[in-house]
Amino acid sequence: PALAQGLSSLIGFSAVPVSFEDTVVVPEGYSIQVLGPMGMPISGKLPAYRPGANTGAEQEHQIGQHHDGIHFFPIDGSSEDGLIAVNHEYIEPRFLHAEKPAYKGKPFNNHGVALDADGRRDDDEVRMEIAAHGVSVYRTTRQADGLWAVVPDPRNRRITAGTPVEIGGPVRGTAHVRTRFSPDGTRARGTLNNCAHGATPWNTYLAAEENWASYFANTDAEVPREHARYGVPGDPRGARYGWHLAKSGADEHVRFDASARGASAAEDYRNEPNTCGWMVEVDPFDPDAAPIKRTHLGRFAHEGVVFAPAVEGAPVVCYSGDDSRFEYIYKFVSDGLWIPGRTDGSILDSGTLYVARFNDDGSGEWLALAPGQNGLTPANGFADLADILVNTRLAADRAGATKMDRPEWGTVDPNTGTTYFSLTNNTRRTQAQVDAVNPRAVNNFGQIVRWNYQDGDHARAHFNWDLFVIAGDARTSSVAPGDALDVDSIFACPDGLWCDRQSRLWIQTDMGDMGPDYEGPLKPFGMNMLLAADPATGEIKRFMTGPWGQECTGVVTTPDGKTMFVNFQHPGAHATAEQFAAGDYGSGFPDYTGAVPRSATVVITRNDGGVIGS
Ligand code: FEO
Ligand code: CA
Ligand code: CA
Ligand code: CA
Repeated sequence: PALAQGLSSLIGFSAVPVSFEDTVVVPEGYSIQVLGPMGMPISGKLPAYRPGANTGAEQEHQIGQHHDGIHFFPIDGSSEDGLIAVNHEYIEPRFLHAEKPAYKGKPFNNHGVALDADGRRDDDEVRMEIAAHGVSVYRTTRQADGLWAVVPDPRNRRITAGTPVEIGGPVRGTAHVRTRFSPDGTRARGTLNNCAHGATPWNTYLAAEENWASYFANTDAEVPREHARYGVPGDPRGARYGWHLAKSGADEHVRFDASARGASAAEDYRNEPNTCGWMVEVDPFDPDAAPIKRTHLGRFAHEGVVFAPAVEGAPVVCYSGDDSRFEYIYKFVSDGLWIPGRTDGSILDSGTLYVARFNDDGSGEWLALAPGQNGLTPANGFADLADILVNTRLAADRAGATKMDRPEWGTVDPNTGTTYFSLTNNTRRTQAQVDAVNPRAVNNFGQIVRWNYQDGDHARAHFNWDLFVIAGDARTSSVAPGDALDVDSIFACPDGLWCDRQSRLWIQTDMGDMGPDYEGPLKPFGMNMLLAADPATGEIKRFMTGPWGQECTGVVTTPDGKTMFVNFQHPGAHATAEQFAAGDYGSGFPDYTGAVPRSATVVITRNDGGVIGS
């Protein structure tokens, strides 16, 4: 914005233009390298990436697909040596299997999944797809030449959609999660659709489970509310990758058909969907520790989670958005009080889950989702705390929370305590449904909301909010403070958000699988991008643009702010079936050799060794 130009000391780079090219563009004076692309081996016998020749068993030791949330855990406080934890949200089966001779010529179903002639799925393709989901943990160090490398380490590990996990919190051991795999309801298999993440004050990683519902099907005449409210498909062909159709007929595959068929839940898979929709804690420093689903943070399409700065003697507070149209933003406040140096995530197992109501006058309140509060009584269908948590969305409906425009990432400014959340878009909002925090009907471009508390106390029930940015072009956008977005800053569909140690707000876009042939309302914004904002002045500048078909996901720096890690997810995804069949995979990223494009992390440094963005 013109008024603020030159005022910001936080933003010291020249903006890059909107891009329509299949390249990565960063400001003058910056360099990039690719790190940890899909297929890179990190554990086991380090099976080399061999497109078209790798097996599912090998994929279990290789980096997965569709990189999303990412965090850098310093080793001994270093900014040149650490563990990366990165989510693999979902997969593009056609890219995973593209070079396999047996895959070529198979017909795709409506999810882009190839079925064999008998209508079943190839077992090893399914094994590879399950293994390409989840989380990768690997050590990375800065080498003498200044480039970063993935290095072997006993802590390097893959967590997949099949890895055994523990269920923690109030839902552990309840009837909701008893399955054939875990008749006592204490364990589950794997983690699904890990979108964004959170880093806890005790230095562990939380992976979100976002669009898990579509991996299942339930063909029962009456689908239970804990499936129906989340959109578990009733049509068996609806399960997005058809894993239940694997020829194996094995439990680990059949479980994705959640129809009741045994005498009890302990004999079939009816409760499998109830084991998903949680935040999953992973300790990157302990490769033997099972991931734990922290059920008190609620069950929904978790985009990620963000912690308020931990304060000694105060509760631990974190926020999480439910990324679906007209869903909610939640807050968890622990019963336990923060003691510096604690290392145990069980503080997340007891406390209160709240959901947000945004009043039109700029005030807001957190509504407790707890037994007996806000109408959550047995008479109204909520038997107890576990029942409320398994049915978090229904509980929030009952409490009267504000239906938002798809809450994506949040972040808390470590210096001011201001909390920001992306509301990415909502094309289905009607004029009659417009309110102050969701101010546009047919919202194509999205907005960023922020809030503060009296005395900066995140545990309070009341807050004050405003809209930091209403995204769009120069005609449709606004920034507070400041003017409209301009040629250096227009963007749409904010998704990833991260406030760095100097209060620079990094904004990533997800406008969909943007390609060069895209026509529609998002065309002026080009390819998905990363921007930096100074919230104090309202200045925003475009920092990086990415290749065709990708979404720019996940952003973090080393503690010194001099190395940034950003992901590009699903390059080439815009390619049509016809292009794909003709060998045009949509994008060359990251190898640009004509090979299948791959999701990867990009490492960004400044040629003069300075702080990124400054
Ligand atoms: Fe996976 Fe809501 O983005
Ligand atoms: Ca996202
Ligand atoms: Ca998104
Ligand atoms: Ca995506």
